[in-house]
Amino acid sequence: MKQLCIGFVGGGFITRFHIQSLVEVRDCCVGGVASGSMASAEEAVAVAKKFRVGPNARAFASTEELAACEDIDALWICARNDTRISVMEEIRAGNRRRKTPLRGICLEKPLARTLAEALQVQAIAEEIGVPTGYLEDMLFAPSLVRSKEVLWRRGAEIAGRPYLARAAEEHAGPHSAWFWQPEIAGGGVLLDMMCHSIEAARWLLTAPGAARESLVPLEVSATCENLKWTQPAYAKQLSARFPSQVDWAAHHSEDFARATVKWRTEDGQILLTETSSSWCYVGAGLRHTFQLLGPEYSLDVDMADAGVKVFFSREVHGQAGEDLVEKQNAEQGQMPLIPNEPAHYGYAGENRHFVDAFLGRCAPSLTFHDGVEVMRLLMAAYQSAAEKRTIDPADPELIHYRPV
Ligand SMILES: NC(=O)c1ccc[n+]([C@@H]2O[C@H](COP(=O)([O-])OP(=O)(O)OC[C@H]3O[C@@H](n4cnc5c(N)ncnc54)[C@H](O)[C@@H]3O)[C@@H](O)[C@H]2O)c1
Repeated sequence: MKQLCIGFVGGGFITRFHIQSLVEVRDCCVGGVASGSMASAEEAVAVAKKFRVGPNARAFASTEELAACEDIDALWICARNDTRISVMEEIRAGNRRRKTPLRGICLEKPLARTLAEALQVQAIAEEIGVPTGYLEDMLFAPSLVRSKEVLWRRGAEIAGRPYLARAAEEHAGPHSAWFWQPEIAGGGVLLDMMCHSIEAARWLLTAPGAARESLVPLEVSATCENLKWTQPAYAKQLSARFPSQVDWAAHHSEDFARATVKWRTEDGQILLTETSSSWCYVGAGLRHTFQLLGPEYSLDVDMADAGVKVFFSREVHGQAGEDLVEKQNAEQGQMPLIPNEPAHYGYAGENRHFVDAFLGRCAPSLTFHDGVEVMRLLMAAYQSAAEKRTIDPADPELIHYRPV
């Protein structure tokens, strides 16, 4: 097979990012989109046509129809968090109707809402017998890929391995109502954004080419808080923005979280990751930073700084938008600009990798198994914050833990 024809499940924000990134990915096209409504599927199809990465793309009435279509080779699941199991069940039903099985399924973070759900998602994929990909774009972001490679080759090789990784991602809050509906999202900022930071920090500390199992997570301690959005004025603001959908004052999860994970290497050395996630940060765009520290070296990445800034005086009154940078908060003053966000954040590299993997050119470097392991740490973090104690992520009882 020379070209992978991708079907997207979900036609929202992240699907648009993925589709745009495909202009930089060889040997693939968009074949179709199934979404919560035909209108949103058609919107995503229009994006694929606009960027000329899906000349024959069409909207499908259901995920099962998309999965059953022989023109589609692989699926990228980018729908709401609460639909993971039903979407996987529809894919299983669609795959049964095919003459040639699906070649791969990728699934956006988080793998599900709880560890039990994540294991169920993984079990359905195993039943289908399809290669999987866990979509964690940070592990493909060029700034992190390149700096990790240099630091391990020049620094760790001579001075010894790094022992501390820090990652933070903070912005002013998500764009769709469902993120603010704890039962649908499965949690708050910890589930939504710490999945990136905790996995990126683990990966930075892992020697290039070494398996995930080379670092064993021993302890998780975390804090969850509501710093901003439960304040009456801000809770009211959210309800006005998402009328009859969001009542954050009455039904909230957390808008700030921090976690420390203690890890052990194969030769017994102790390492730490420190991560924080926030929906209460107000700056020009996102605050999105990474550090990796070792005995004689350090690495600093500011993902929100691509080296470009523009300035608009108070005489310029532009329309509110996100055309300069994701989660843009202002249209005046000095603003950062990221020239190519789909590549900068890793979506292009990620999709290049999974297209190659599903075309049989390499093994997927992140699978649903990795998504399950991330979920284990997130659930341990939730439990630690709720019970104000350190949690062993290997505790088999975590499978029953539900943050919401
Ligand atoms: N990697 C990242 O940085 C990143 C960024 C944003 C979102 N995400 C993840 O991507 C997923 C989607 O988030 P989003 O920001 O695109 O949300 P969104 O609200 O913009 O879009 C969600 C889409 O899901 C669709 N949908 C709802 N129910 C469905 C169903 N049963 N079957 C098929 N589609 C259905 C909706 O119609 C909508 O098009 C989430 O799991 C989120 O965590 C990842």
